[in-house]
Amino acid sequence: MTFNPLKEKGLALEKQLRNWHQIVAKPYKKQLVDCYSRTRQILMNGIEVESWGFKHQFNRFMNLDSEDKANISRLGRIENQQQMTCNWLSPANQTVLETTLGYEQVAVDLTAWLSQNEPDKYVKETFDFGLLEDFDHLYRYSQFAYMEEGLEPNDIVQGKTDIILGRPTQHHHNCNGLRLRKHYDKNTASPQTKINILTVLSAEQQTHNFYSEHGFMYGDHILRETYAEIKDVEEEHVTMYESLIDPNETMFEKLLLHEFCEVCNYYTCLEDETDENLKKHWEIFLDIELGHLQTVCEIFKKYEKKDPEEVIGSEIIIPCRFKSQKGYVQKILEKEINKRLAPNGEFYNSFDEIPSDWASYKVQQKVGEISAPSENCINLIEIYCDRDIVRASDELKNKETSLLEKGLQKTAAANNTVYPDKLQEMIQKHKKRKNQKETLI
Ligand SMILES: [Fe+2]
Ligand SMILES: [Fe+2]
Ligand SMILES: [Fe+2]
Ligand SMILES: [Fe+2]
Repeated sequence: MTFNPLKEKGLALEKQLRNWHQIVAKPYKKQLVDCYSRTRQILMNGIEVESWGFKHQFNRFMNLDSEDKANISRLGRIENQQQMTCNWLSPANQTVLETTLGYEQVAVDLTAWLSQNEPDKYVKETFDFGLLEDFDHLYRYSQFAYMEEGLEPNDIVQGKTDIILGRPTQHHHNCNGLRLRKHYDKNTASPQTKINILTVLSAEQQTHNFYSEHGFMYGDHILRETYAEIKDVEEEHVTMYESLIDPNETMFEKLLLHEFCEVCNYYTCLEDETDENLKKHWEIFLDIELGHLQTVCEIFKKYEKKDPEEVIGSEIIIPCRFKSQKGYVQKILEKEINKRLAPNGEFYNSFDEIPSDWASYKVQQKVGEISAPSENCINLIEIYCDRDIVRASDELKNKETSLLEKGLQKTAAANNTVYPDKLQEMIQKHKKRKNQKETLI
Protein backbone atom coordinates (compact mmCIF):
# COMPACT_ATOMS: atom_id res chain seq x y z
CA MET A 1 0.00 0.00 0.00
CA THR A 2 1.35 3.43 -0.85
CA PHE A 3 2.01 5.98 1.86
CA ASN A 4 -0.37 8.95 1.76
CA PRO A 5 1.23 11.82 3.73
CA LEU A 6 -2.09 13.66 3.93
CA LYS A 7 -3.50 10.85 6.05
CA GLU A 8 -0.65 11.03 8.61
CA LYS A 9 -0.87 13.27 11.67
CA GLY A 10 2.84 13.50 12.43
CA LEU A 11 4.21 15.24 15.50
CA ALA A 12 2.05 18.14 16.70
CA LEU A 13 3.64 21.55 16.24
CA GLU A 14 3.61 22.36 19.96
CA LYS A 15 5.79 19.30 20.65
CA GLN A 16 8.45 20.06 18.05
CA LEU A 17 10.79 22.38 19.92
CA ARG A 18 14.00 20.52 20.89
CA ASN A 19 16.76 21.25 23.41
CA TRP A 20 20.36 22.16 22.52
CA HIS A 21 21.64 18.63 23.08
CA GLN A 22 19.09 17.30 20.62
CA ILE A 23 19.78 20.08 18.14
CA VAL A 24 23.56 19.64 18.16
CA ALA A 25 23.77 15.92 17.67
CA LYS A 26 26.69 13.52 17.39
CA PRO A 27 28.49 13.94 14.05
CA TYR A 28 29.32 11.01 11.78
CA LYS A 29 32.91 9.80 11.40
CA LYS A 30 34.34 10.90 8.08
CA GLN A 31 36.46 7.75 7.67
CA LEU A 32 33.55 5.42 8.33
CA VAL A 33 30.48 7.09 6.89
CA ASP A 34 28.94 5.71 3.71
CA CYS A 35 29.26 8.30 0.93
CA TYR A 36 25.49 8.26 0.42
CA SER A 37 24.82 8.89 4.10
CA ARG A 38 26.98 11.98 3.65
CA THR A 39 25.07 13.02 0.51
CA ARG A 40 21.76 12.64 2.36
CA GLN A 41 23.06 14.80 5.19
CA ILE A 42 24.27 17.47 2.74
CA LEU A 43 21.01 17.42 0.79
CA MET A 44 18.77 17.64 3.85
CA ASN A 45 20.70 20.66 5.08
CA GLY A 46 19.93 22.33 1.73
CA ILE A 47 16.26 21.36 1.92
CA GLU A 48 16.00 22.85 5.42
CA VAL A 49 17.77 26.07 4.42
CA GLU A 50 15.26 26.55 1.60
CA SER A 51 12.31 25.73 3.83
CA TRP A 52 13.49 28.09 6.55
CA GLY A 53 14.14 30.95 4.11
CA PHE A 54 10.79 30.46 2.44
CA LYS A 55 8.91 30.91 5.74
CA HIS A 56 10.54 34.30 6.19
CA GLN A 57 9.74 35.36 2.63
CA PHE A 58 6.19 34.14 3.18
CA ASN A 59 5.67 36.22 6.30
CA ARG A 60 7.27 39.27 4.71
CA PHE A 61 4.94 39.21 1.72
CA MET A 62 1.70 37.73 3.04
CA ASN A 63 -0.96 39.25 5.20
CA LEU A 64 -2.48 36.46 7.32
CA ASP A 65 -4.52 36.32 10.50
CA SER A 66 -2.18 36.75 13.44
CA GLU A 67 -2.50 33.14 14.67
CA ASP A 68 -1.68 31.79 11.19
CA LYS A 69 1.25 34.17 10.88
CA ALA A 70 2.52 33.01 14.27
CA ASN A 71 2.27 29.39 13.11
CA ILE A 72 4.32 30.10 9.97
CA SER A 73 6.88 31.75 12.22
CA ARG A 74 6.88 28.70 14.55
CA LEU A 75 7.44 26.44 11.55
CA GLY A 76 10.37 28.61 10.49
CA ARG A 77 11.99 28.20 13.87
CA ILE A 78 11.65 24.43 13.73
CA GLU A 79 13.14 24.37 10.20
CA ASN A 80 16.03 26.38 11.60
CA GLN A 81 16.60 23.84 14.39
CA GLN A 82 16.44 20.96 11.91
CA GLN A 83 18.87 22.75 9.62
CA MET A 84 21.40 23.05 12.45
CA THR A 85 21.10 19.38 13.26
CA CYS A 86 21.51 18.31 9.62
CA ASN A 87 24.43 20.62 8.86
CA TRP A 88 26.25 19.97 12.10
CA LEU A 89 26.21 16.23 11.63
CA SER A 90 29.37 17.01 9.62
CA PRO A 91 32.42 16.27 11.76
CA ALA A 92 34.81 19.10 12.64
CA ASN A 93 37.73 17.33 10.97
CA GLN A 94 36.07 17.10 7.55
CA THR A 95 37.88 19.66 5.45
CA VAL A 96 36.20 22.18 3.19
CA LEU A 97 37.48 20.36 0.10
CA GLU A 98 36.27 16.99 1.40
CA THR A 99 32.84 18.48 2.01
CA THR A 100 33.00 20.10 -1.42
CA LEU A 101 33.48 16.71 -3.10
CA GLY A 102 30.44 15.56 -1.13
CA TYR A 103 28.40 18.51 -2.44
CA GLU A 104 29.29 17.75 -6.06
CA GLN A 105 28.59 14.05 -5.54
CA VAL A 106 25.12 15.10 -4.34
CA ALA A 107 24.65 17.21 -7.46
CA VAL A 108 25.73 14.44 -9.86
CA ASP A 109 23.97 11.43 -8.37
CA LEU A 110 20.84 13.29 -7.25
CA THR A 111 20.33 14.95 -10.64
CA ALA A 112 20.93 11.65 -12.44
CA TRP A 113 18.27 9.97 -10.27
CA LEU A 114 15.79 12.80 -10.78
CA SER A 115 16.38 12.82 -14.49
CA GLN A 116 15.53 9.13 -14.82
CA ASN A 117 12.42 9.64 -12.67
CA GLU A 118 11.14 12.80 -14.31
CA PRO A 119 7.92 12.50 -16.31
CA ASP A 120 8.34 15.84 -18.13
CA LYS A 121 10.75 15.47 -21.08
CA TYR A 122 11.78 19.11 -21.12
CA VAL A 123 12.52 19.18 -17.38
CA LYS A 124 14.54 15.99 -17.84
CA GLU A 125 16.57 17.63 -20.59
CA THR A 126 17.33 20.53 -18.25
CA PHE A 127 18.40 18.14 -15.48
CA ASP A 128 20.76 16.36 -17.88
CA PHE A 129 22.22 19.69 -18.92
CA GLY A 130 22.97 20.72 -15.33
CA LEU A 131 24.27 17.26 -14.52
CA LEU A 132 27.25 17.52 -16.87
CA GLU A 133 28.28 20.83 -15.34
CA ASP A 134 28.36 19.57 -11.76
CA PHE A 135 30.12 16.47 -13.03
CA ASP A 136 32.93 18.68 -14.31
CA HIS A 137 33.05 20.59 -11.00
CA LEU A 138 33.69 17.32 -9.17
CA TYR A 139 36.66 16.68 -11.46
CA ARG A 140 38.14 20.20 -11.05
CA TYR A 141 37.83 20.13 -7.25
CA SER A 142 39.35 16.65 -7.15
CA GLN A 143 42.58 18.06 -8.60
CA PHE A 144 42.74 20.65 -5.83
CA ALA A 145 41.83 18.09 -3.18
CA TYR A 146 44.99 16.22 -4.12
CA MET A 147 47.20 19.30 -4.48
CA GLU A 148 46.09 21.05 -1.29
CA GLU A 149 45.51 18.12 1.04
CA GLY A 150 46.94 15.01 -0.62
CA LEU A 151 43.41 13.69 -0.69
CA GLU A 152 42.41 10.67 -2.74
CA PRO A 153 38.98 11.68 -4.14
CA ASN A 154 37.74 8.11 -3.80
CA ASP A 155 38.10 8.46 -0.02
CA ILE A 156 35.04 10.70 -0.34
CA VAL A 157 33.08 9.40 -3.34
CA GLN A 158 34.06 5.79 -2.55
CA GLY A 159 34.23 4.73 -6.20
CA LYS A 160 30.50 5.34 -6.68
CA THR A 161 30.84 8.41 -8.89
CA ASP A 162 33.30 8.75 -11.76
CA ILE A 163 35.83 11.55 -11.71
CA ILE A 164 36.71 12.74 -15.19
CA LEU A 165 36.14 15.94 -17.12
CA GLY A 166 32.63 16.92 -18.18
CA ARG A 167 31.48 19.98 -20.10
CA PRO A 168 34.44 22.26 -19.23
CA THR A 169 33.59 24.71 -16.45
CA GLN A 170 34.72 27.75 -18.43
CA HIS A 171 31.79 27.08 -20.78
CA HIS A 172 29.23 27.16 -17.96
CA HIS A 173 29.17 30.95 -17.81
CA ASN A 174 26.11 32.18 -19.62
CA CYS A 175 24.05 35.25 -20.21
CA ASN A 176 21.32 35.21 -17.54
CA GLY A 177 18.60 35.46 -20.15
CA LEU A 178 19.78 32.19 -21.70
CA ARG A 179 19.79 30.40 -18.35
CA LEU A 180 16.06 31.06 -18.01
CA ARG A 181 14.11 27.97 -19.03
CA LYS A 182 10.45 27.39 -19.86
CA HIS A 183 8.28 26.83 -16.79
CA TYR A 184 5.85 23.99 -16.20
CA ASP A 185 2.12 24.58 -16.04
CA LYS A 186 1.01 24.26 -12.42
CA ASN A 187 -2.35 22.82 -13.49
CA THR A 188 -0.95 19.99 -15.58
CA ALA A 189 2.51 19.28 -14.10
CA SER A 190 2.70 16.19 -11.93
CA PRO A 191 3.57 16.53 -8.23
CA GLN A 192 6.67 14.47 -9.05
CA THR A 193 7.94 17.21 -11.40
CA LYS A 194 7.27 19.92 -8.81
CA ILE A 195 9.07 18.03 -6.04
CA ASN A 196 11.96 16.98 -8.28
CA ILE A 197 12.63 20.61 -9.18
CA LEU A 198 12.31 21.93 -5.64
CA THR A 199 14.68 19.22 -4.40
CA VAL A 200 17.47 19.92 -6.89
CA LEU A 201 16.95 23.67 -6.56
CA SER A 202 17.44 23.47 -2.79
CA ALA A 203 20.60 21.39 -3.26
CA GLU A 204 22.05 23.82 -5.80
CA GLN A 205 21.23 26.86 -3.70
CA GLN A 206 22.99 25.39 -0.68
CA THR A 207 26.00 24.41 -2.82
CA HIS A 208 26.20 28.04 -3.86
CA ASN A 209 25.96 29.15 -0.22
CA PHE A 210 28.63 26.70 0.91
CA TYR A 211 31.16 27.85 -1.71
CA SER A 212 30.34 31.44 -0.93
CA GLU A 213 30.95 30.96 2.80
CA HIS A 214 33.96 28.62 2.60
CA GLY A 215 35.90 29.21 -0.63
CA PHE A 216 37.99 31.94 0.99
CA MET A 217 39.25 29.57 3.69
CA TYR A 218 42.18 28.45 1.56
CA GLY A 219 45.33 30.50 1.09
CA ASP A 220 45.92 29.23 -2.44
CA HIS A 221 44.76 32.03 -4.66
CA ILE A 222 43.95 29.82 -7.64
CA LEU A 223 41.77 27.63 -5.46
CA ARG A 224 40.00 30.70 -4.09
CA GLU A 225 39.40 31.82 -7.67
CA THR A 226 38.11 28.38 -8.58
CA TYR A 227 35.59 28.50 -5.74
CA ALA A 228 34.51 31.93 -7.00
CA GLU A 229 34.16 30.63 -10.54
CA ILE A 230 32.18 27.52 -9.60
CA LYS A 231 30.07 29.41 -7.08
CA ASP A 232 29.02 31.66 -9.95
CA VAL A 233 27.94 28.58 -11.92
CA GLU A 234 25.89 27.39 -8.95
CA GLU A 235 24.21 30.81 -9.02
CA GLU A 236 23.34 30.07 -12.66
CA HIS A 237 22.02 26.65 -11.63
CA VAL A 238 19.71 28.31 -9.09
CA THR A 239 18.48 30.62 -11.86
CA MET A 240 18.00 27.72 -14.25
CA TYR A 241 16.12 25.38 -11.91
CA GLU A 242 13.89 28.02 -10.33
CA SER A 243 12.86 29.22 -13.78
CA LEU A 244 11.25 25.81 -14.39
CA ILE A 245 8.69 26.58 -11.66
CA ASP A 246 5.37 28.07 -12.72
CA PRO A 247 5.43 31.68 -11.44
CA ASN A 248 1.62 31.57 -11.28
CA GLU A 249 1.74 29.23 -8.29
CA THR A 250 0.30 31.06 -5.28
CA MET A 251 2.33 31.49 -2.11
CA PHE A 252 -0.04 29.03 -0.40
CA GLU A 253 0.63 26.42 -3.07
CA LYS A 254 4.35 27.01 -2.63
CA LEU A 255 3.99 26.66 1.14
CA LEU A 256 2.30 23.31 0.66
CA LEU A 257 4.91 22.13 -1.83
CA HIS A 258 7.77 23.07 0.49
CA GLU A 259 6.40 20.94 3.34
CA PHE A 260 5.51 18.10 1.00
CA CYS A 261 9.04 18.25 -0.43
CA GLU A 262 10.50 17.89 3.06
CA VAL A 263 8.21 14.96 3.83
CA CYS A 264 9.17 13.15 0.61
CA ASN A 265 12.88 13.68 1.11
CA TYR A 266 12.93 12.53 4.74
CA TYR A 267 10.74 9.58 3.81
CA THR A 268 13.31 8.51 1.20
CA CYS A 269 16.22 9.11 3.59
CA LEU A 270 14.55 6.94 6.20
CA GLU A 271 13.94 4.14 3.70
CA ASP A 272 17.52 4.14 2.44
CA GLU A 273 19.68 5.03 5.44
CA THR A 274 22.24 2.46 6.59
CA ASP A 275 23.75 4.55 9.41
CA GLU A 276 21.75 3.93 12.59
CA ASN A 277 22.63 7.31 14.08
CA LEU A 278 21.50 9.26 11.03
CA LYS A 279 18.43 7.09 10.65
CA LYS A 280 17.17 8.20 14.05
CA HIS A 281 17.24 11.80 12.88
CA TRP A 282 15.44 11.06 9.62
CA GLU A 283 12.74 9.26 11.56
CA ILE A 284 12.10 12.15 13.96
CA PHE A 285 12.30 14.71 11.17
CA LEU A 286 9.81 12.83 9.01
CA ASP A 287 7.39 12.93 11.93
CA ILE A 288 8.04 16.65 12.37
CA GLU A 289 7.47 17.35 8.66
CA LEU A 290 4.23 15.39 8.63
CA GLY A 291 3.13 17.72 11.45
CA HIS A 292 4.17 20.73 9.33
CA LEU A 293 2.20 19.38 6.41
CA GLN A 294 -0.92 19.14 8.56
CA THR A 295 -0.46 22.74 9.72
CA VAL A 296 0.00 24.17 6.24
CA CYS A 297 -2.86 22.08 4.84
CA GLU A 298 -5.18 23.82 7.27
CA ILE A 299 -3.84 27.23 6.24
CA PHE A 300 -4.12 26.27 2.56
CA LYS A 301 -7.74 25.13 2.92
CA LYS A 302 -8.67 28.27 4.85
CA TYR A 303 -7.20 30.79 2.41
CA GLU A 304 -7.41 29.01 -0.95
CA LYS A 305 -10.60 27.07 -0.27
CA LYS A 306 -9.24 24.09 -2.16
CA ASP A 307 -8.20 20.55 -1.39
CA PRO A 308 -4.39 20.18 -0.88
CA GLU A 309 -4.60 16.95 -2.88
CA GLU A 310 -5.14 19.05 -6.01
CA VAL A 311 -1.58 20.37 -5.62
CA ILE A 312 0.41 17.53 -4.09
CA GLY A 313 -1.62 14.43 -4.94
CA SER A 314 -2.18 11.64 -2.46
CA GLU A 315 1.01 9.60 -2.75
CA ILE A 316 4.53 9.92 -1.47
CA ILE A 317 7.23 10.75 -4.04
CA ILE A 318 10.79 9.46 -3.99
CA PRO A 319 13.02 12.42 -4.90
CA CYS A 320 16.47 11.44 -3.61
CA ARG A 321 17.33 7.78 -3.98
CA PHE A 322 21.13 7.93 -3.83
CA LYS A 323 22.93 5.19 -5.71
CA SER A 324 25.76 4.91 -8.18
CA GLN A 325 24.74 6.40 -11.53
CA LYS A 326 27.94 5.80 -13.50
CA GLY A 327 26.27 4.15 -16.50
CA TYR A 328 23.63 6.84 -16.91
CA VAL A 329 26.08 9.71 -16.43
CA GLN A 330 28.51 8.26 -18.97
CA LYS A 331 25.72 7.94 -21.51
CA ILE A 332 24.73 11.61 -21.11
CA LEU A 333 28.37 12.69 -21.03
CA GLU A 334 29.21 11.07 -24.35
CA LYS A 335 26.04 12.35 -25.98
CA GLU A 336 25.67 15.87 -24.60
CA ILE A 337 29.03 17.29 -23.59
CA ASN A 338 28.83 19.74 -26.52
CA LYS A 339 25.28 20.92 -25.74
CA ARG A 340 24.72 24.62 -25.04
CA LEU A 341 21.90 26.98 -24.03
CA ALA A 342 19.82 28.66 -26.73
CA PRO A 343 17.36 31.57 -26.44
CA ASN A 344 13.72 31.07 -25.40
CA GLY A 345 14.49 28.08 -23.23
CA GLU A 346 15.78 26.00 -26.16
CA PHE A 347 19.08 24.10 -26.43
CA TYR A 348 21.75 23.88 -29.12
CA ASN A 349 22.54 20.20 -29.46
CA SER A 350 26.03 21.18 -30.49
CA PHE A 351 27.97 24.41 -30.22
CA ASP A 352 28.45 24.21 -34.00
CA GLU A 353 24.90 25.61 -34.25
CA ILE A 354 25.68 28.74 -32.18
CA PRO A 355 25.58 32.09 -34.03
CA SER A 356 28.55 34.45 -33.68
CA ASP A 357 26.49 36.95 -31.66
CA TRP A 358 25.53 34.39 -28.96
CA ALA A 359 24.93 36.38 -25.78
CA SER A 360 27.03 34.09 -23.53
CA TYR A 361 30.24 34.80 -25.46
CA LYS A 362 30.41 38.29 -23.96
CA VAL A 363 30.07 36.88 -20.43
CA GLN A 364 32.71 34.20 -21.04
CA GLN A 365 35.16 36.66 -22.60
CA LYS A 366 34.80 39.05 -19.68
CA VAL A 367 35.08 36.64 -16.74
CA GLY A 368 37.87 34.62 -18.39
CA GLU A 369 39.77 37.54 -19.90
CA ILE A 370 42.95 36.89 -17.89
CA SER A 371 42.54 33.16 -17.34
CA ALA A 372 40.04 30.54 -16.26
CA PRO A 373 40.85 29.22 -12.74
CA SER A 374 39.11 25.95 -13.61
CA GLU A 375 41.68 25.44 -16.41
CA ASN A 376 44.58 26.43 -14.16
CA CYS A 377 43.92 23.47 -11.90
CA ILE A 378 44.78 21.14 -14.81
CA ASN A 379 47.87 23.19 -15.65
CA LEU A 380 48.94 22.93 -12.01
CA ILE A 381 48.29 19.23 -11.52
CA GLU A 382 50.71 18.52 -14.38
CA ILE A 383 53.52 19.75 -12.13
CA TYR A 384 52.44 17.42 -9.32
CA CYS A 385 51.83 14.21 -11.23
CA ASP A 386 52.27 14.72 -14.99
CA ARG A 387 48.59 14.35 -15.75
CA ASP A 388 45.18 15.03 -14.29
CA ILE A 389 43.60 12.86 -11.60
CA VAL A 390 40.90 10.67 -13.14
CA ARG A 391 38.96 7.94 -11.36
CA ALA A 392 36.91 5.96 -13.87
CA SER A 393 36.94 2.65 -15.72
CA ASP A 394 39.77 2.19 -18.24
CA GLU A 395 37.15 2.28 -20.98
CA LEU A 396 35.99 5.77 -19.99
CA LYS A 397 39.49 6.94 -19.12
CA ASN A 398 40.64 6.09 -22.63
CA LYS A 399 37.97 8.38 -24.03
CA GLU A 400 39.09 11.44 -22.08
CA THR A 401 40.88 13.26 -24.89
CA SER A 402 38.10 12.66 -27.38
CA LEU A 403 35.54 13.84 -24.82
CA LEU A 404 37.49 17.07 -24.44
CA GLU A 405 37.68 17.35 -28.22
CA LYS A 406 33.89 17.15 -28.39
CA GLY A 407 33.11 19.37 -25.37
CA LEU A 408 35.68 22.16 -25.65
CA GLN A 409 34.78 25.20 -27.66
CA LYS A 410 37.56 27.35 -29.10
CA THR A 411 35.48 30.54 -29.43
CA ALA A 412 35.79 32.55 -26.21
CA ALA A 413 38.09 29.95 -24.60
CA ALA A 414 40.48 31.41 -22.01
CA ASN A 415 44.19 31.89 -22.77
CA ASN A 416 45.22 29.18 -20.34
CA THR A 417 42.91 26.51 -21.77
CA VAL A 418 44.21 22.94 -21.76
CA TYR A 419 43.46 21.76 -25.30
CA PRO A 420 43.10 18.09 -26.22
CA ASP A 421 46.60 17.84 -27.71
CA LYS A 422 48.08 19.20 -24.47
CA LEU A 423 46.04 16.74 -22.41
CA GLN A 424 47.17 13.89 -24.64
CA GLU A 425 50.77 14.97 -24.14
CA MET A 426 50.28 14.89 -20.36
CA ILE A 427 48.74 11.41 -20.52
CA GLN A 428 51.64 10.15 -22.66
CA LYS A 429 54.21 11.66 -20.30
CA HIS A 430 52.54 9.89 -17.39
CA LYS A 431 52.42 6.61 -19.30
CA LYS A 432 56.08 6.81 -20.23
CA ARG A 433 57.16 7.45 -16.67
CA LYS A 434 54.94 4.64 -15.48
CA ASN A 435 56.57 2.20 -17.91
CA GLN A 436 59.93 3.27 -16.57
CA LYS A 437 58.54 2.87 -13.04
CA GLU A 438 59.22 6.53 -12.26
CA THR A 439 55.72 7.87 -11.67
CA LEU A 440 55.50 11.04 -9.62
CA ILE A 441 52.66 9.62 -7.54
FE1 LIG B 1 12.17 21.02 8.02
FE1 LIG C 1 28.57 22.11 -9.03
FE1 LIG D 1 25.35 22.88 -9.59
FE1 LIG E 1 8.90 21.74 7.39
